[in-house]
Amino acid sequence: MTIPQAARLDGIDLSDFDFWAEPWERREAAFAALRAERPIAFFAEPEFEIETVIPIPPGPGYYAITRHADVVEISRHPELYCSGQSSTSIIDMPPELLEFFGSMINMDDPRHARLRRIVSAAFNPRMVRSVEDTIQQVADDIIEQVRGKGACDFVTEVAARLPLKVICDMMGVSERDYDTVFTRSNVILSMGDTEYVPEGEDPVLAFMNAGTDLAELMRELAAYRLEHPTDDLTSALVNANVDGEALTDAELSSFFILLVVAGNETTRNAISHGLWALTERPDQRAVWTEDFDAVAPTAVDEIVRWASPVIFMRRTVTQPTTLSGHDFAEGDKVLLFYNSANRDEDVFEDPQRFDVRRAPNPHVGFGAPGPHFCLGAHLARREITVMFKELFRHLPDIRATAEPDRLRSNFINGIKHLPCAYSAG
Ligand code: HEM
Repeated sequence: MTIPQAARLDGIDLSDFDFWAEPWERREAAFAALRAERPIAFFAEPEFEIETVIPIPPGPGYYAITRHADVVEISRHPELYCSGQSSTSIIDMPPELLEFFGSMINMDDPRHARLRRIVSAAFNPRMVRSVEDTIQQVADDIIEQVRGKGACDFVTEVAARLPLKVICDMMGVSERDYDTVFTRSNVILSMGDTEYVPEGEDPVLAFMNAGTDLAELMRELAAYRLEHPTDDLTSALVNANVDGEALTDAELSSFFILLVVAGNETTRNAISHGLWALTERPDQRAVWTEDFDAVAPTAVDEIVRWASPVIFMRRTVTQPTTLSGHDFAEGDKVLLFYNSANRDEDVFEDPQRFDVRRAPNPHVGFGAPGPHFCLGAHLARREITVMFKELFRHLPDIRATAEPDRLRSNFINGIKHLPCAYSAG
């Protein structure tokens, strides 16, 4: 793009939903301009044109943090930049929504530490290993279902199914409820995309209804597991652990919603972006397939950097403080743009190149180091690795056959559909 720097900056409005529907290259150019010229940039908050059940008062605006070093610095200092007033939305979460979406990702210590401790104890290496053992079987089953067709929608028929089944299995959700989990989590992350919330419907109400349905599903399961414990995560969370700690009903429901939302869409999108990137770059695909196991660790992290499935997390300034020469006041909102940090020229050599052997790769796709660093990073890496291994093994010529159909969202770098083809086995 050859537009002058200043004009380019003045034309950028991250709060305009149309900005997020722009082609990826334009988005990249805008963030490159912000990093170079205005790395801590102020924006007014997005305006909601639709009337909603919960009125959303106009907010004070936010600062977009676009450089890697600043994103890392903020994540390291939760005492200065907290998550409690909502880390997952630009608006402060109203109480009606906090009931469902107020899990640990939107908490600070000591409440965050308590929840993370209980969950980490249940999410222990033995539990994760036993889930991991099933991933290959799940991936093979998914591929088997589409194998004879020669073509399918990669997102809905392949990429989405693996994380959904893994999380449901881990929590002990039965197969008949998968569809509820899938459709409700789509609504929660849809940002009102009309494919998931029909035109004219109140997106906040749809959001709350989806939360209610998932909470109800969890309540029933938790009650059953209290009486009939198994070795699933729900049983471990509702029955007190060795330190006598367990989650309350409300904590369990909102944690389940967090897991479903955080673990499903993100992994699904990473896998889908991965296929698209590998289709467009056969040379990189060849590098990986020639020595799959050796290249997998760097390839998978490069997919997460490249995809940046979560675009931002928010923090709120707790006291006057200065960052890279900018003075913040208490209450200022800062948005950590991971997609931009992951393309920072000061950190990544040739950041616009997809390189399956990239090392080092200090990307912040799973968040930057700090108390909220992704709890499922290890599991997600495993799912992505196994999925590509099985795809290359069973459908070696699989490729995307059209441009991705993208989710219109400023929060999730989502692909809704991606047609793909392969030689039918
Ligand atoms: C490629 C896949 C994934 C990506 C890109 C991703 C990304 C993220 C990001 C950016 C955060 C927030 C970090 C912060 O605020 O500092 C996060 C937190 C979290 N993620 Fe992931 N995630 C992925 C997969 C998963 C999976 C598979 C699970 C669980 C099954 C999971 C569970 C969580 C939880 C529970 C948190 C909240 C942690 C806390 O607040 O202490 N994520 N993830």
